[in-house]
Amino acid sequence: MPPATRIQHVARTARYTSTAKAPPKAPIQPYRSASRSVRSTGAIEQQPAAKYAPPPVFSRSRALPWVLSSMIAGSIGFYMTRLFIEARRPCQNPGVGDISQQKDVSGRYEDTADTFDSEVGLSEALMGVNRLRKKLARKCKGHVLEASCGTGRNLGYFDVGNGGEVESLTFVDLSPHMVEVCKKKWVALMGEKNEKLRPGLQVRFLTGSVIESMPSAPTKAKYDTIIQTMGLCSTPSPTDLLTNLVKHLDTTNPEARILLLEHGRSYRMWLNRILDNSAEKHAEIHGCWFNRDIGALVGEAAHKTGLDIVSERRHHFGTTWIFELKPSVELASHKYPTAELPLPPEQPQPSDWRSWVGLS
Ligand SMILES: C[S@@+](CC[C@H](N)C(=O)[O-])C[C@H]1O[C@@H](n2cnc3c(N)ncnc32)[C@H](O)[C@@H]1O
Repeated sequence: MPPATRIQHVARTARYTSTAKAPPKAPIQPYRSASRSVRSTGAIEQQPAAKYAPPPVFSRSRALPWVLSSMIAGSIGFYMTRLFIEARRPCQNPGVGDISQQKDVSGRYEDTADTFDSEVGLSEALMGVNRLRKKLARKCKGHVLEASCGTGRNLGYFDVGNGGEVESLTFVDLSPHMVEVCKKKWVALMGEKNEKLRPGLQVRFLTGSVIESMPSAPTKAKYDTIIQTMGLCSTPSPTDLLTNLVKHLDTTNPEARILLLEHGRSYRMWLNRILDNSAEKHAEIHGCWFNRDIGALVGEAAHKTGLDIVSERRHHFGTTWIFELKPSVELASHKYPTAELPLPPEQPQPSDWRSWVGLS
């Protein structure tokens, strides 16, 4: 019997013979069974251990995930620490919440129009803001005016299909560049679907201030629904803006509505301290004062113009505000002083506006 076979034979027999001594166990070799080799003679021989040392535990490919996750954890830690400090630190500038002292930053959007969607897109998606936009836009009926439309983040949500409730859409914004992006988006989104749109639907894209007089609706003087999302934060005169929207609302229509989705102060003091502490820097960069008390502004405008607040909801620790407003009975029956709010006699026609583009 050749020696190798004999070893196996003895080992097998030993298992069944109580008196037989168990063969010594070979030491467990790390990683490679090749550390044992059978020579042509059949003898088993140990290789020198140093020659077969295991690879380093922290190879480059193994270290990368550790480095990346430590960097992410470090950044989150740093960010959270800063927030924590800001949340405890009283604001050094007591006037930062006073609208009359806030700088007019409404012109910023002309420079940020191209990047606006990518800047706000992810956070809005994560916070569920798109769902809120859709819910509000779905309430729009008849002749609809979207004030401060920006890049048209709501335009995919209007009920403009065949049989839909929207008769016309008028988009208005102060920034020509924002309006241009909005119009391009409409063409990209609806261009192919023209035959699926409500027959006769009129769509207009206008550049101008929603604090000034705006063109009338396509087939009547005033609008049935006026919607504005995230607009009160970026105007120097939010109450004037709201008052002007009421002037353009058809208050004789019992279904007429002003719909607002805005962002501002929270009902948590620690969060308001964070907003106040970073408000100036944020406004300078993004063109928006995110520390305004939206509830107080809307309440004041409603009181002044004769609007009833149908509903008020808040999300995200109260920083996101949603309002549905309608003309009060007094306003609708012209018994309210501001029912007299007439459009200025020389109401500009679309061609008088700085830019006018229309699709129908
Ligand atoms: C924060 S962005 C919001 C844009 C868009 N409504 C949205 O929901 O994404 C504010 C917009 O308000 C516009 N805006 C500021 N003041 C305005 C005014 N007086 N008239 C019309 N638009 C104005 C800005 O140009 C900007 O596009």
